[in-house]
Amino acid sequence: MATASKLESALTLPASAYRECETFERERRRIFSRSWLMITHESQVRSVGDYFAASVAGFPLIVVRGEDGAVRAFHNVCRHRAGPLVDDGPGRCEGALVCRYHGWRYGLDGRLASARDFGPAQGFDPRDYALHQIKCESWRGFIFINMDPDAGALERTVAPLAARTAHLPLEEFRFERTTTHTISCNWKTYVENYLEGYHIPLVHPFLNAAVDTSRYAVSLDPPVIFHHAPPRDGSPVEGLWAWLWPCLGVNVYADGILMERIWPVSVNVTRLEYLYFFRHGIEPAAMERSIEVSGITTVEDKTICEAVQRNLNAGIYDTGRLSPKHEQGVAWFQQEWRRWLEGREADPPRSDG
Ligand code: FES
Ligand SMILES: [Fe+2]
Repeated sequence: MATASKLESALTLPASAYRECETFERERRRIFSRSWLMITHESQVRSVGDYFAASVAGFPLIVVRGEDGAVRAFHNVCRHRAGPLVDDGPGRCEGALVCRYHGWRYGLDGRLASARDFGPAQGFDPRDYALHQIKCESWRGFIFINMDPDAGALERTVAPLAARTAHLPLEEFRFERTTTHTISCNWKTYVENYLEGYHIPLVHPFLNAAVDTSRYAVSLDPPVIFHHAPPRDGSPVEGLWAWLWPCLGVNVYADGILMERIWPVSVNVTRLEYLYFFRHGIEPAAMERSIEVSGITTVEDKTICEAVQRNLNAGIYDTGRLSPKHEQGVAWFQQEWRRWLEGREADPPRSDG
């Protein structure tokens, strides 16, 4: 595990990193098109033809269950003139993905089956126009994609998370619902807020009462950061939170789990898509309580993150300092962000931060 001392006394990223379109474009290419991203859960694509589509950092993506039962991922972009195959969200198609623009038809394995009313065209071979396929792997029912064909195995990336959540009966949990929250801030503003508990006493009165923040601990096991605070009696939270680079939050409840996809929409808009899972047999009131508490916490985080973003945009603040006691997670994230943006993510981390 990385230690806090390596990350001591870190300067924050400059405010420009949170507001420049050029930086966002570099993040799209260097981070989001090369990282494992949890896109959905098996329960959302249970049957042949079920799909889930989402746009992540401007990349339109789709995962679909094929005739052979395998789940595949593609860019949701037609090979004719870039039309959309489906709208974002869950859905179901009958045996083919048909482009909304001119009706090209793709099999669920991505092959172009027919180019509607195309006419005779010399040198046009439909085999050359399959959908662009993306790597797609599952971990305990959660479907991850990676746009980098050379990406390492998902298993390696999620190993720290797998070890720390091995006791949770994830496969026995039942999918309950999705909620979505749109926040007017850069994705890093939200992620950094997720990565520290320093703000809890000021921003989250309910959460502050539910856990013992005096024993709040952050531990780094890259690319995962864990937070733990012992829950007080009767608390709906278990006091364990994990975050996987670059944009997945994992919130563990007493009787369930909330998987939090933190998706950049543009340089100053971030969309949170929550997937809630609970144990079978949980009292409906207890479940609603957990969902309500997470909703309250999210509204509080949204309010503070939007205020911070306004200040980052204002041109007054440039850089600040991170607390070695509370903000080691933020320091690690910023260090990692620099490495990826400079294309050094394959190098071993430097010990001087
Ligand atoms: S863009 Fe898809 S059929 Fe034309
Ligand atoms: Fe928070």
